[in-house]
Amino acid sequence: MAVMFGSGCMVAFLVFLFLLLSGRVNSEPTEDKQALLAFLSKIPHANRIQWNSSDSACNWVGVGCDANNSSVHTLRLPAAGLVGTIPPNTLGRLSQLRVLSLRSNGLSGEIPSDFSNLTLLRSLYLQDNDFSGDFPGSVTHLTRLTRLDLSSNNFTGTIPFSVNNLTHLTGLFLENNGFSGKLPSISADLASFNVSNNKLNGSIPDTLRKFPASSFAGNLDLCGGPLPPCSPFFPAPAPSPSVNPPPNPVHKKSKKLSTAAIVAIAVGSALALFLLLLILLLCIRKRQRQQPAKPPKPVATSRTVATEAGTSSSKDDITGGSMEPDRNKLVFFEGGIYSFDLEDLLRASAEVLGKGSVGTSYKAVLEEGTTVVVKRLKDVVVSKKEFEMQMEVLGNIKHENVVPLRAFYYSKDEKLLVFDFMPAGSLSALLHGSRGSGRTPLDWDNRMRIAHSAARGLAHLHVAGKVVHGNIKSSNILLRPDHESCISDFGLNPLFGTSTPPNRLAGYRAPEVVETRKVTFKSDVYSFGVLLLELLTGKAPNQASLGEEGIDLPRWVQSVVREEWTAEVFDVELMRYHNIEEEMVQLLQIAMSCVSTVPDQRPAMQEVLRMIEDMNRGETDDGLRQSSDDPSKGSDGQTPPAESRTPPSALTP
Ligand SMILES: *[C@@H]1O[C@H](CO)[C@@H](O)[C@H](O)[C@H]1NC(C)=O
Ligand SMILES: *[C@@H]1O[C@H](CO)[C@@H](O)[C@H](O)[C@H]1NC(C)=O
Ligand SMILES: *[C@@H]1O[C@H](CO)[C@@H](O)[C@H](O)[C@H]1NC(C)=O
Ligand SMILES: *[C@@H]1O[C@H](CO)[C@@H](O)[C@H](O)[C@H]1NC(C)=O
Ligand SMILES: *[C@@H]1O[C@H](CO)[C@@H](O)[C@H](O)[C@H]1NC(C)=O
Ligand SMILES: *[C@@H]1O[C@H](CO)[C@@H](O)[C@H](O)[C@H]1NC(C)=O
Ligand SMILES: *[C@@H]1O[C@H](CO)[C@@H](O)[C@H](O)[C@H]1NC(C)=O
Ligand SMILES: *[C@@H]1O[C@H](CO)[C@@H](O)[C@H](O)[C@H]1NC(C)=O
Repeated sequence: MAVMFGSGCMVAFLVFLFLLLSGRVNSEPTEDKQALLAFLSKIPHANRIQWNSSDSACNWVGVGCDANNSSVHTLRLPAAGLVGTIPPNTLGRLSQLRVLSLRSNGLSGEIPSDFSNLTLLRSLYLQDNDFSGDFPGSVTHLTRLTRLDLSSNNFTGTIPFSVNNLTHLTGLFLENNGFSGKLPSISADLASFNVSNNKLNGSIPDTLRKFPASSFAGNLDLCGGPLPPCSPFFPAPAPSPSVNPPPNPVHKKSKKLSTAAIVAIAVGSALALFLLLLILLLCIRKRQRQQPAKPPKPVATSRTVATEAGTSSSKDDITGGSMEPDRNKLVFFEGGIYSFDLEDLLRASAEVLGKGSVGTSYKAVLEEGTTVVVKRLKDVVVSKKEFEMQMEVLGNIKHENVVPLRAFYYSKDEKLLVFDFMPAGSLSALLHGSRGSGRTPLDWDNRMRIAHSAARGLAHLHVAGKVVHGNIKSSNILLRPDHESCISDFGLNPLFGTSTPPNRLAGYRAPEVVETRKVTFKSDVYSFGVLLLELLTGKAPNQASLGEEGIDLPRWVQSVVREEWTAEVFDVELMRYHNIEEEMVQLLQIAMSCVSTVPDQRPAMQEVLRMIEDMNRGETDDGLRQSSDDPSKGSDGQTPPAESRTPPSALTP
């Protein structure tokens, strides 16, 4: 009995001991331990790093655990003689790691991509190694990082904008590498920052200008902020003589301008950059004129640029006395989605989209990835006040089929408008671009949708906005991804007075505009009618391909229709769609009423819209036509009824 009791006691004790032991074993970070052992076994290292696998990892040199030893929180192996690349799938498994220091080793190659799994990491010290390749993409996923030190390595490529993913960063050390390109704007609230001794160029973003020059020294061509101001080594284009008062003749820069002008003409596509640099140059020159003794201040005041909405009337209420009201003021409209300033536009990469009669349009890609269209107006005749009043009207027009004007800039020498960028391009490009060479033709349903949505936009402009568009043409009808259209470039005629170049509306211009030089609601309707004819015929109104010299699209259509060749006028690309003849004829009739020679005989725009909507309702509500007339959807075997190709006789020109 006693023996039995004793052995029972013994068993209980052993079980207790086992539980105790296994409890201790469980408190060890077993998974982390394996990851660490895998790391060390695959990489050469100094002798003093001897991790005893039968000991708890929490006792190892360089390893720190959390309070109850359930995971590894810190790994510090500075100057531990580590050589070669970090083996993948080792350190990346330390999922609870807070601090990782591998500085002052001989590590090389790229940072493994599985570092992106170290999501709790606060500090990463990899300086003084031989790491190479691009800025490690995995690091931009470590959103809790507060300190990142990649200095004194062999990293190359650009510093990606995605470092802005690291919103908690307070220290960023990238010095002594081979980083190149421009410095991104970094929004994190950094206390320490160093990018010296790289190959960076371009201007220092505002967010980083608080750091001393030694943070930026030794780069290829950084400028601005604590470093010397960026100088326009690209010469500016020749300003038009009317807006360019002769500057102080002893001024050296005025000479540069004119030599520059020649080069500027040669390098057409870099024009956008020139323009923006010109603004900066002019600002610097003005400032120099006002304070001749002092060098231009680094752009501290440019931070005060009005990026808030609705500041267009702020020109008179100058706050802070010394601030100049006109300078660098990009005026945004309410409800806008952008927040950038002229400085950002200066740094944007720009590409010429098109040169029109009122100015040149650029596509500008800002650093943070926003893309906008900047229109640089030339030959504006109105005063600043009139300009601002017109902008106020245009900026308040909000409609899904009107491209919104987001901001404007007015100075004596430059007038800029900022619009949304529409990546799908214009109707003109869609209709006339690379015809025949394997392009998908614009089908009838999409043409109808474009006509309908453009009519909606224009009717809104006329009725709600009380604004004459003045420049309706297919290159100003821009496409949204859903194939609806938006009208752009509206309401600018008042800025140019009667100096509007006569061929501005070539092909779309109503006959009376030639004499009066005034665009009206009715002349917009005429232009819209020409646009409808363009959609129907596939012919560009301003191209001389209409057979006879000097005949415009409406006259050509009228002449063809009068001779009962109606089917001939339609775009050959539309001939593959069945059962659309009726609609095409209806739209043709609407178009013909718009292009009446007598303005009073043209319908109002909202009337045009109603007519288009009426024909739409009759034909597309059944939803069947769309599938039956699309040749790609299995109606190939179906032959069109022979009579559907004969011109209807009821057409009245
Ligand atoms: C590893 O640790 C165990 C027990 O903690 C010890 O007996 C052994 O000697 C150690 N081995 C080395 C190589 O230090
Ligand atoms: C032990 O660690 C786990 C996981 O981190 C945690 O949930 C638990 O509260 C810790 N216990 C103690 C006593 O710290
Ligand atoms: C955690 O590990 C350390 C080092 O091995 C040890 O001193 C400590 O007592 C352990 N703590 C717990 C709660 O197990
Ligand atoms: C991160 O961890 C998850 C699961 O823990 C794993 O499936 C994934 O492959 C890891 N990512 C990388 C880049 O290794
Ligand atoms: C930024 O962080 C988020 C969240 O971790 C991640 O989904 C995203 O991919 C990161 N972006 C980049 C460019 O690393
Ligand atoms: C840095 O990388 C370049 C090429 O990537 C190589 O030629 C150079 O030797 C590397 N320098 C160091 C110190 O590793
Ligand atoms: C900066 O350098 C890159 C090449 O490293 C070059 O393409 C770019 O034009 C330079 N930009 C400026 C503003 O000098
Ligand atoms: C930046 O790094 C360089 C090179 O290591 C150093 O000389 C300079 O003092 C550092 N600047 C700052 C502000 O830390």
